[in-house]
Amino acid sequence: MTPNSLHARDIASLVHQQTNLDQHARDGAVIIARGEGCRVWDSEGKQYIEAMAGLWCASLGFSERRLADAAHRQMLELPYYHTFFQKGHTPAVELAEKLLAVAPAGMERVLFQCSGSEANDAAIKLAWLYWGVQGQPGRTKIIGRVRGYHGNTVASVSLSGQPHMHAGFNLPLPGFLHTDNPNFYRSSHDGETEEAFGERMADSLEALIVAEGPDTIAAFFAEPVQGGGGAITPPRGYFDRIQAVLRKYDILFIADEVICGFGRTGNMWGSDTYALQPDMISCAKQLSAAYQPISALMVGARVHEAMLEASRRHGSFGHGYTYGGHPVACAVALETLRIYEERDIVGHVRTVAPAFLDGLAAYADHPLVGDVRGVGLIAGVELMADKASRTPFPPGLGVGLRVQGGCEAAGLIVRAIGDRIAFTPPLIIDEGEIGEMCRRFGQGLDAAWCGMQAAPSLAAE
Ligand SMILES: Cc1ncc(COP(=O)(O)O)c(C=O)c1O
Repeated sequence: MTPNSLHARDIASLVHQQTNLDQHARDGAVIIARGEGCRVWDSEGKQYIEAMAGLWCASLGFSERRLADAAHRQMLELPYYHTFFQKGHTPAVELAEKLLAVAPAGMERVLFQCSGSEANDAAIKLAWLYWGVQGQPGRTKIIGRVRGYHGNTVASVSLSGQPHMHAGFNLPLPGFLHTDNPNFYRSSHDGETEEAFGERMADSLEALIVAEGPDTIAAFFAEPVQGGGGAITPPRGYFDRIQAVLRKYDILFIADEVICGFGRTGNMWGSDTYALQPDMISCAKQLSAAYQPISALMVGARVHEAMLEASRRHGSFGHGYTYGGHPVACAVALETLRIYEERDIVGHVRTVAPAFLDGLAAYADHPLVGDVRGVGLIAGVELMADKASRTPFPPGLGVGLRVQGGCEAAGLIVRAIGDRIAFTPPLIIDEGEIGEMCRRFGQGLDAAWCGMQAAPSLAAE
């Protein structure tokens, strides 16, 4: 690395997020220079298939001209305005209308923010507001799930079940609880059916609620498919049982659709795929195909009525962000939703999903692979030392990172989450590109396998 290279300047100036800082200081970063379709090129000219769509978000790939044009047009027309103090602008109104038109039944109003974390933060605040208005201010506790990922603001990271993001930060905040992770493959008992496993998960949630006191619980959050936890699909019947428990104790349910929203699971919403009936829905990422930072929180009738009542009591609805509902972001999101409709992106996901899921499942017999599971265009491949007994690799072996490294060498960007390899390619991926993605994955798996034969006890660098 030469002293004035981009890589050296990067090390000398930039803090990378969710990164081992010593490792970055030593090895530098892969700097992505440009993109086209489902592919990106790094600063050295190496090409990759981006099988994570960046961070589960670049649904239309990396070269959608219409989104750039929409941003440019809006910047010339009205580059900034806000929605505080009864002011507004056309793109925010049109986007809110459009979202409600495509939302699952029951959503009544939309609040805009800039990130998924902020949308979930707002949902937590609204859950507290709701119970205050109901005369039950003692209902403050928020339940998430082990390995759930809801963001990085102080509240949304507390809600996330990700101990490595709490460590050292004095987090989680008190009053944030985590119930079991529904990874059927990893956590089911021998011979247990998916339905029985789902029931056990719901029983465990109920036991937590009863132990804490139902009149202390405000809300439960869940991603329809857990993303940052490892692309974990819920087992059959799981959400039916979970929702029955929530109804029994009148606990608000927030569906975090930040990854699943806008077609990822083969329906517009993960809530459609799993028959969820949430009180609020947070969404972001694919809302703008990631071309602009924007998120939305949609609220159902009972939460909206509580907001109106709180505003009456306190003189205003005391919440908002300078850039929430930014006109350029709204214009880009609107254009994104138009493209989804015109190109029937949800239908496309359903068409290519079998090639995607079967292509990955073809590696189920690979010596490193224990399980392959997914829905639509999201899948997780779990690596296992011993498939029959479901014995994981010792964490120190870094098998997931070895596979991720092998894939990158083969020109494929995937994400190792522990020993689960996550795939969420752009929604525009076609069958040819899926075939190439799977071929490169096979190369990555083989490279990791060979590396482990040569140096079985070395942790991945
Ligand atoms: C399900 C889910 N919720 C919330 C977030 C946080 O979104 P952001 O990083 O935009 O704050 C993420 C980020 O990956 C996510 O996957």
